[in-house]
Amino acid sequence: MPARPNVFVTRKIPESGLLLLKKETDVTLNPNDRALKRNEFLEYIKGRDGILTQLNDKMDAQVMEAAGKQLKVISNYAVGFDNIDVKEATKRGIVVTNTPGVLTEGTADFAWALLMSAARRVVEADALVRQGKFVGWDPLLLLGGNIYGKTLGIIGFGRIGQAVARRAYGFNMKILAYHPSRVIEAPGIAAKFVSLSELLKESDFITLHTPLTPETRHLIGEKELKSMKPTAYLINTARGPVIDEAALAKALKEKWIAGAGLDVYEKEPEVHPELLKLPNVVLAPHISSASFETRSDISLLAAKNLLAVLRGEPSLHRVN
Ligand code: DGY
Repeated sequence: MPARPNVFVTRKIPESGLLLLKKETDVTLNPNDRALKRNEFLEYIKGRDGILTQLNDKMDAQVMEAAGKQLKVISNYAVGFDNIDVKEATKRGIVVTNTPGVLTEGTADFAWALLMSAARRVVEADALVRQGKFVGWDPLLLLGGNIYGKTLGIIGFGRIGQAVARRAYGFNMKILAYHPSRVIEAPGIAAKFVSLSELLKESDFITLHTPLTPETRHLIGEKELKSMKPTAYLINTARGPVIDEAALAKALKEKWIAGAGLDVYEKEPEVHPELLKLPNVVLAPHISSASFETRSDISLLAAKNLLAVLRGEPSLHRVN
């Protein structure tokens, strides 16, 4: 690698990774506490040997061209890499890396946080108390759905889907699994693999853990929502476009399903305006991996991936 490679980090990340990068490279950090605008981005990336990107940085041919021929690595600070045109990067000899593994447990925790909040109406309850509307115990106040003993349908049974399944044992749940793209090993996990239509029909809770690919875009639309139980809840901590958001808003409004918990959106950071009006959906701002420990681990792994490529070593997690 050049004596001191030139690296750009598109957004401030936890210190762990930055400290590592600074030992071996000249690091430029986006000085703003916001994502760069496209024109700023195209300027900042010029002449870099490596770029550490966020999931909302669109890394397409124009960006790669603007960066220049010396660009060797795009290290994504995320496990999902649908923001990167991997084919284009491969064509240009740019290595793309991601951060699988380190955010599995944190994301699974958060899928459960959404599931429980949606089923037991935690957000509505909090609002009611703050508004001074808690006037005494009420036998019919904020009734929700039980979780214990119910059926959990997991769409996408990779690392995170399986981590969500393991947490379900404590709730004595029956687990149904559907994995869209291939047969998957899940040793030691008592899940029944079923078709998507069976999972939709039978589950009380459905949680999404697929990457966003052309096959999974709008995997859950009007037809799928209509086939769910009216008492069921849908949880999404994967990627927004896996659900047709307009169809979901309709489903929640017209009570085709009981509720939902969302951490991701179809046109992030925009949220479908109808969803914002509905009480039966819990909305979070893409924070499923946002624990101190997880974000620090992602930072370290993204830095390690980037340095390995610049050193000419096999990177830990190449996607191309
Ligand atoms: C990822 O890593 O893809 C997650 O969406 C970040 O929370």
